[in-house]
Amino acid sequence: MPSAPRPGGLDIWHRATLSAQIAALMLVGAAFAEATENDRSQSERGEYVARAAGCMSCHREDLSGGYEVETPMGTIVASNISPSLAYGIGTYSRNDLARVLHHGIAPDRRLYPAMPYTSYRGMTDADIDDLYVWLQAQEPVDEPPENVTDLPFPFNIRAGMMVWNWLYLTERDLPPIEDPVLYRGAYLVNHLGHCGECHTPRNDFFAMRDDQYLAGEVLDGWLSPNLTSDLVMGIGAWSERDIVDYLRTGHAGNVVQAAGPMAEFVRHSTRHLDDDDLAAMAGYLKTLPPVWEGVQDIPAVLPELARAEPEHRYGQIREEMARALARPDLSEPEGLYITHCAACHGVTGQGQPQAYYPPLIQNAALRRADANNLLQVLLHGVPAGKLDRAPAMPGFAGELDADQIATLANYTRTTFGEREDSALTAADVQRVLASEEEMPAPLRTLQVLAWVGLIGALAILALIGWWVTRRRRRAQPGNRQEV
Ligand code: HEC
Ligand code: HEC
Ligand code: HEC
Repeated sequence: MPSAPRPGGLDIWHRATLSAQIAALMLVGAAFAEATENDRSQSERGEYVARAAGCMSCHREDLSGGYEVETPMGTIVASNISPSLAYGIGTYSRNDLARVLHHGIAPDRRLYPAMPYTSYRGMTDADIDDLYVWLQAQEPVDEPPENVTDLPFPFNIRAGMMVWNWLYLTERDLPPIEDPVLYRGAYLVNHLGHCGECHTPRNDFFAMRDDQYLAGEVLDGWLSPNLTSDLVMGIGAWSERDIVDYLRTGHAGNVVQAAGPMAEFVRHSTRHLDDDDLAAMAGYLKTLPPVWEGVQDIPAVLPELARAEPEHRYGQIREEMARALARPDLSEPEGLYITHCAACHGVTGQGQPQAYYPPLIQNAALRRADANNLLQVLLHGVPAGKLDRAPAMPGFAGELDADQIATLANYTRTTFGEREDSALTAADVQRVLASEEEMPAPLRTLQVLAWVGLIGALAILALIGWWVTRRRRRAQPGNRQEV
């Protein structure tokens, strides 16, 4: 902008000192910015990457490994990734680590995609540099994980992953997003946070279905809900605040709480992240177009304005329980509820939010058409300590039979979850209790074919062996005389 000549403008000397002052200020500003950037040393940045990527949710806080990823084919055990020379990754170079994260190839073997390299494929070089420095600076754990990977033939042939990678390890480019905050959110959700590994439906060969990205999937008996912006199935009714709260604490708005695998993930990963990053993730998730899959009649989570105000009736619960139990018209399901649940969740389902016992009124676990997670919680409870002060919920698998658990589930879903009806049976409870996922049909066929192939190959080898020894015998002089 051309500046108009000003009467009595600054003389040369003044101008010079002014620009010197401005320059000095700018230098200080730049130095300050650099200092905050450097405040996080490379190792600290690496730890942050490990948190955002949830490495410790599978490899454990001390990196000793041992967490078992249950698949319908069998159990895959997370490796020791401490810098132990004998049992961990102490001999890894930086590029060895990059190869594991981008391609699923360790120096001595190919890895199964239970190690989520399909998502880490998009990790930046800078993040891998930092992560490598941090990993190598940790305490080595000089022992192997207590369990070993156990897969049946032919899935125990790791070379098979070459074919799987060729088919399914696609480039994972981020969508073209201009906004740097949303772009960061997409990077955290799609790559580091590998949210899609649990929340995206998979095809029969266990590859993520890109057309159903984040539309929800049941893994190992738990539903990872739809995270697209669908108002009924997904998180369309959640505010950004709700999402940030949930990722920080495992619960949001007194209507939804993580109790299963997500509780673990919050504990080891998302609760450690900066507010800016959680907000970026929430912002990005809200931009995902709705994808419908499965049945859901009423919104699992109500928008903030439609939520009931939680009542605080702390201290009156014992009294209310006694009064309710004395009622002559008490139905069987009510009786079950009051004796087993009301001490924590209140007679009227109001909970005790101040003591971290969530209200059951409008609770997402009761409103969802898919009852997997509710039954999991009723059977196995919720371990304490998801948040430092969070109490436990006991499991009822030992105390109540499948019929009673189904009755309780139906009663709470219709009474507090505002569902019109609920017809869960003992068989549904048994199915969740067994939680054995069936191997998809094509994989079963592949297994049969592999066995047939193996038996065929052995038969051919035996035949060749028989033929060769026969020829040898014939060629021996002694045998020739016989002819
Ligand atoms: C969902 C669980 C899961 C997460 C999250 C995860 N891993 Fe793994 N990781 C595994 C499993 C399971 C294996 C073993 C795979 C196999 O045996 O084929 C593995 C193997 C590895 C190996 C190979 C070690 C070896 O040589 O045997 C490295 C290195 C590794 N992970 C590093 C990481 C890092 C770094 C992160 C975080 C960025 C991470 N993992 C996150 C499950 C996970
Ligand atoms: C290990 C599998 C796994 C990973 C990884 C995972 N989730 Fe989840 N998530 C679940 C499961 C299972 C639930 C159901 C709640 C529970 O565990 O109690 C869930 C629930 C949620 C919910 C609540 C949805 C609702 O309707 O109740 C949100 C939001 C969520 N996850 C976001 C994320 C984000 C964002 C990421 C990535 C940073 C992520 N999740 C990674 C398994 C996972
Ligand atoms: C000792 C206290 C206690 C008892 C008894 C108890 N709960 Fe809970 N319940 C909890 C706590 C604590 C949580 C919250 C866990 C969390 O934050 O993830 C919870 C969570 C829940 C949830 C939400 C689960 C989810 O996935 O979001 C439901 C539904 C529930 N309880 C129902 C019941 C029913 C039905 C009974 C009786 C059979 C019962 N609870 C008995 C303490 C209890």
